[in-house]
Amino acid sequence: MTELRPARILAVETSCDETACAILENGRMLLGSAVASQMELHARYGGVYPEVASRQHVLSIVPVIEEALGKAHLTFQELDAIAVTRGPGLAGALVVGVNAAKGLALALGLPLIGVNHLEGHLYSPWVYTAGDKPPEEPEFPLMVLLVSGGHTELDLMTNHLEYNRLGATLDDAAGEAFDKVARLLNLGYPGGPAIQAAAEDGSPDRFNFPRAWLDGTWNFSFSGLKTAVMREAKDLQGKARTLPVQDMAASFQAAVVEVLFRKTMDAARELGARAIVVAGGVSANRTLRQRFQSQSEFKVHVPPLWLCTDNAAMIAAAGYYRFALGHTSGLDIDVEPTWPLS
Ligand code: KG4
Ligand code: ZN
Repeated sequence: MTELRPARILAVETSCDETACAILENGRMLLGSAVASQMELHARYGGVYPEVASRQHVLSIVPVIEEALGKAHLTFQELDAIAVTRGPGLAGALVVGVNAAKGLALALGLPLIGVNHLEGHLYSPWVYTAGDKPPEEPEFPLMVLLVSGGHTELDLMTNHLEYNRLGATLDDAAGEAFDKVARLLNLGYPGGPAIQAAAEDGSPDRFNFPRAWLDGTWNFSFSGLKTAVMREAKDLQGKARTLPVQDMAASFQAAVVEVLFRKTMDAARELGARAIVVAGGVSANRTLRQRFQSQSEFKVHVPPLWLCTDNAAMIAAAGYYRFALGHTSGLDIDVEPTWPLS
């Protein structure tokens, strides 16, 4: 790849329930970042309430942009481009970020870059905080496991911005399965961290929950697993037994992790990948991280915890590579709530 030109990108992310802004230099070095989480607001509904999310983004967007710029000790005049998440995500939430970014680009006379949220997640391992030692850059071809609340897919990344989708979930995303199982075990929202915490003291071998291998494909399926946990819970409750929530959480988590790990390793071997990236909210899961870090024969790049869940630094990173390769957007772009990565 040819030498990329230096640039300072400000990115905005409002695809779901975090209002976020970050400024990144040369695609990797984070100068400032701010995230306003709406998690507590949505917890009472047991999931993200789209209308509430949009209204909260409207309230938070300007303070979050100001906070990120302040942390970076920069003014608007020192920026080179504005990146923003166009999708996938909640339409009403995306609109807030896209309009804020358009306003900035127009007022400052800067290029606008529409970014795919999934592309943002997979660029998260490139990011490091200014002053820290830069982590090794992932080498292509890369096997990417993208595991978030809305998506679960395997992609072969052959170069910057070049992806081949190998397979994806046929039903629930991995994060969605965590959230649904947490709800049925009364563990609250968001489900991933709640299941992880409950599983700490549970036995992963107590229940032999099903693993959907879907042999011969790189697809995933988690709805059968979720149903199996639900049946077991009903069965135990029918016998007037208190639910062994910790063992159920640990056994469920073990089933998800085993499928994600084994299929990713098989895909990496079969397609000749040089390294693996695991990204998206579920990549924050401790058991999943440990499995990849201890048992992979490939170099594994997993972002630090704060870059696993939604943030704007990853959008700035993907935005930088788009900008550097000339992929800027017009001011007439719209949101793309169901935009696939490839
Ligand atoms: O990437 P993300 O912040 O938002 C989307 O783009 O969807 O991912 C959120 C998802 C939620 O389903 C949440 O339960 C899951 O990531 N998650 C986890 C953990 N932390 C967040 N799942 C398992 N273990 C975790 N520690
Ligand atoms: Zn996300």
